[in-house]
Amino acid sequence: MSQERQQLIDKALEARGQAYSQYSGYSVGAALIDDNGNLHLGCNVENAAYPLGNCAEAAAIAAMVQAGGKRIEHIAIAGGRTDITACTPCGGCRQRIHEFADENTVITVFDDSGEWRDYSIAELLPASFHLD
Ligand code: THU
Repeated sequence: MSQERQQLIDKALEARGQAYSQYSGYSVGAALIDDNGNLHLGCNVENAAYPLGNCAEAAAIAAMVQAGGKRIEHIAIAGGRTDITACTPCGGCRQRIHEFADENTVITVFDDSGEWRDYSIAELLPASFHLD
């Protein structure tokens, strides 16, 4: 595994440690590197009013935009109740990533067994919606 991927995985795990996920018990962390080489983290934040919960990817992307990042170079996602299981982004987060992705953007998911996989946004969201 490349050093960059391993570092991003470690940061996603770190971000997951801050998850506020008492309703689902499923904690998620996301770590991304933007086009400026800056790192941004996010975790899921749930709410007693269930639909108001936010995903980890949304939080990391918001942090990127606020800091001036324009594009996601690489994002890693860590999710699971206790053990880390491969957490591919939900449908909404695929669209969120798509907004700031191109064909070189790498989306890494992984699990506790050491298995990992890189996806492109075209693999996760084929025939995607976009405005011309
Ligand atoms: N979740 C994320 O943070 N990202 C995803 O891509 C999948 C789901 C969160 C939302 C909710 O807080 C919990 O995981 C269970 O669905």
